Amino acid sequence: MQNFVYHNPVRIVFGDNGIPQLPLLIPEGSRLLLTYGQGSIHRNGVYQRVTEALKGWPLWEFGGLEANPRYETCLRAVEICRQQQVSFILAVGGGSVLDGSKFIAAATLFDGDPWTILTKEATVTQALPLGSVLTLPATGSEMNGFSVISRAATQEKLGFGSPSVYPRFAILDPSTTFSLDDRQIGNGIVDTFVHVLEQYLTYPAQAPLQDRQAEAILLTLIEEAPKVRAAPHEYAVRANLMWCATQGLNGLIGCGVPQDWSTHLIGHELTALYGIDHGQSLAVVLPGVCFHNRLHKQEKLCQYARRVWGMTADSPAELALAAIQRTESFFQSVGVKTRLGEYGIGPEAVTAVANRLAERHLRLGERANLDATAVAAILTTRL
Ligand code: NZQ
Ligand code: ZN
Repeated sequence: MQNFVYHNPVRIVFGDNGIPQLPLLIPEGSRLLLTYGQGSIHRNGVYQRVTEALKGWPLWEFGGLEANPRYETCLRAVEICRQQQVSFILAVGGGSVLDGSKFIAAATLFDGDPWTILTKEATVTQALPLGSVLTLPATGSEMNGFSVISRAATQEKLGFGSPSVYPRFAILDPSTTFSLDDRQIGNGIVDTFVHVLEQYLTYPAQAPLQDRQAEAILLTLIEEAPKVRAAPHEYAVRANLMWCATQGLNGLIGCGVPQDWSTHLIGHELTALYGIDHGQSLAVVLPGVCFHNRLHKQEKLCQYARRVWGMTADSPAELALAAIQRTESFFQSVGVKTRLGEYGIGPEAVTAVANRLAERHLRLGERANLDATAVAAILTTRL
């Protein structure tokens, strides 16, 4: 097992009684900015539940954060924070609202060009405190210190991470997720599944506990996924999906083990250039990355095949291939398409994405063996 430090300061309030507890979770005397997306919280009643709980608090609102939140939009919220001397941000929505709010929190206290936070030229050392009411289980953003922001003008999608932007608390009320449509449910399941695989499908690291924690999340997702459509009003199913998503990217299963993340970095380029959803981009790329690296990943692919899917085969090579195919069918079973062509994206994407990665001199994967040529080869198999 590799050395690691694990510190997660996020207080989780899980269940259908969380929202009324907001006044107990936010520091007394805070000047609040309530941030949200494009209106789902108005339609499903979450806005009303939140503002009712916060009656009497000095509160400003900033709605309109996009899916894949935009840098340009976040900067408008930074202005409000500065003008109104906001002292606490409450993000109500999915991963995009959370990520946008983390960036707003950091940029408000940042002295200099905030774009440099995302290009990694600058490190974030302070941010306004923030908390969240999560309405979409997928990203794990509610319990981590990462944020991914898109700049419309240059079609870039870049992330940053800092201990300063961990939410102080996250209210996880599964009943807020009943209003999600099939597309977002499917995306969320794929995103969670791929977060786990990015931290698990690498090479053995003598970390049996982390392996089994990862497998537990995968097995739970496989068990719960078909129930969402069969029983769309089942609270327990929503609760289990929500807790899986939080556990998938709160740092725990990644302690002391090698991590991949190439699927995410390639996927972000596809979203930046062609606008496909985050979950969709992952469903396209992951099978290609696993196929390309099937020999490097063979031991873990075989363990995954046996323990998660209960598969056997005549040879390790066949078992590894079968596991990759089974994963792709799972993504399809939750309604997420797995080929570029199915999203109307043609062969031009291969060079466009590879060029982007070449410009940044990136080498991806747990062995840093994926350069721009390898990424082009991977995407060619996903047309
Ligand atoms: O904008 P509103 O109107 O709220 O609608 C959203 C949006 O259209 C809607 N929605 C959210 N909750 C809903 C709902 N609709 C009905 N009922 C509800 N309860 O769903 C749509 C998608 O929302 P979004 O927040 O974009 O989805 P998600 O949570 O999947 O977040 C995706 C973003 O997170 C980033 C992605 O790159 C992408 O930008 N990620 C963040 C990570 C992190 N911070 O750790 C890690 C992830 O790998 C990912 O990169
Ligand atoms: Zn993701």
